[in-house]
Amino acid sequence: MKLFDVYPLIDIEPVKGEGCYVIDKNGERYLDLYGGHAVISIGHSHPYYVKKLSDQLQLLGFYSNSVIISLQEELAQKLGRLSGYDDYFLFLSNSGAEANENALKLASFYTQKSKVIAFKGAFHGRSSGAVAVTDNPSISAPINFNQHVTFLNFGDINAVELELQKQDTCAVIIEGIQGVNGIVEPSEKFLQDLSAMCKKYKVVLILDEIQSGYGRTGKFFAHQYSGIKPDIITVAKGMGNGFPIAGTIISPEFKAKYGLLGTTFGGNHLACTAAIAVLEIMEDDQLIENAEMVGNYLIEKLKAIPEIKAIRGRGLMLGLEFDFPINKLRDVLIREEKVFTGSSSNKNVLRLLPPLNMGTCEADLFVNRLACSLRKVMDATVNI
Ligand SMILES: Cc1ncc(COP(=O)(O)O)c(C=O)c1O
Repeated sequence: MKLFDVYPLIDIEPVKGEGCYVIDKNGERYLDLYGGHAVISIGHSHPYYVKKLSDQLQLLGFYSNSVIISLQEELAQKLGRLSGYDDYFLFLSNSGAEANENALKLASFYTQKSKVIAFKGAFHGRSSGAVAVTDNPSISAPINFNQHVTFLNFGDINAVELELQKQDTCAVIIEGIQGVNGIVEPSEKFLQDLSAMCKKYKVVLILDEIQSGYGRTGKFFAHQYSGIKPDIITVAKGMGNGFPIAGTIISPEFKAKYGLLGTTFGGNHLACTAAIAVLEIMEDDQLIENAEMVGNYLIEKLKAIPEIKAIRGRGLMLGLEFDFPINKLRDVLIREEKVFTGSSSNKNVLRLLPPLNMGTCEADLFVNRLACSLRKVMDATVNI
């Protein structure tokens, strides 16, 4: 059997991770400003995380949701306290798409309506409902176009109100910061107006914090900069630092009922152990504060690079915009300067999503290597 060839691969094979670095099979060390697509929150192979997972595996790796799993309660309590959502409920699943799928389903159950408002440039995942609210027809199959979704301009509150007046919408879904679209932030005012409007028309507001959450922006959730409290928040990526786990965080307004949602693997012993370790390390090592501090430091240093036309985002979720496509630059960064970075659907934007334990010395190292790579690309001394 061969692998179904759906990923354009970088021909590097990391085999080991250490904090903010990955090491490939030839022993080459790379600075990781991509974090495996915003997944690495506490850093690669944190010893406490490794020990907790190894210990749990010795005890019990899995049992289904038909029995008591007190690790789930422990995780819910810790997550509630650290995120400021103590009074919300937690439903556990395995991936971001699933977290959004469950959020959309809950909104539809709750309102008994089916239309969803999403925004241009949005990415919410690839499962049926999640891809339907994603603004990318090229990854939707005909079966996915059966959902009733209206895409509006990001930030256009008047358009939202016009749609909501039709009284057929169950949910509005929006990312805390649009990631795949090249780090595009909603204004605080837009989020506040959106929240007020959803309340006025009794529509469920879903904040997708899968990429922008879990401390990445310097607050637990990016939307917390605007002071709003959405009805549902979705999380995944950094939650398990690479161990698959996701959460749908649900307002106390929603009433649970047996069978309403369900999953085989969601909230299993290993996944909860990983997620608990992540929260413990985030708290002990003050990684949210670190993300804000190192993010601000990095932004200041990056301002000195004239080729960067705009810096967007907050904390350690940054988009650097150039006035040329970044594919060559990204290649030079990886191959010659040994730095992993991310791309986005905006061809001119380099996306930075490093582990939240990144320090100022790694920030300096990155800025130097970026400047070097830019010189090489500009001088066209490299032939890629
Ligand atoms: C904002 C956002 N939502 C949802 C998803 C989907 O998550 P997953 O790939 O875990 O299904 C992603 C993944 O990149 C994302 O960035």
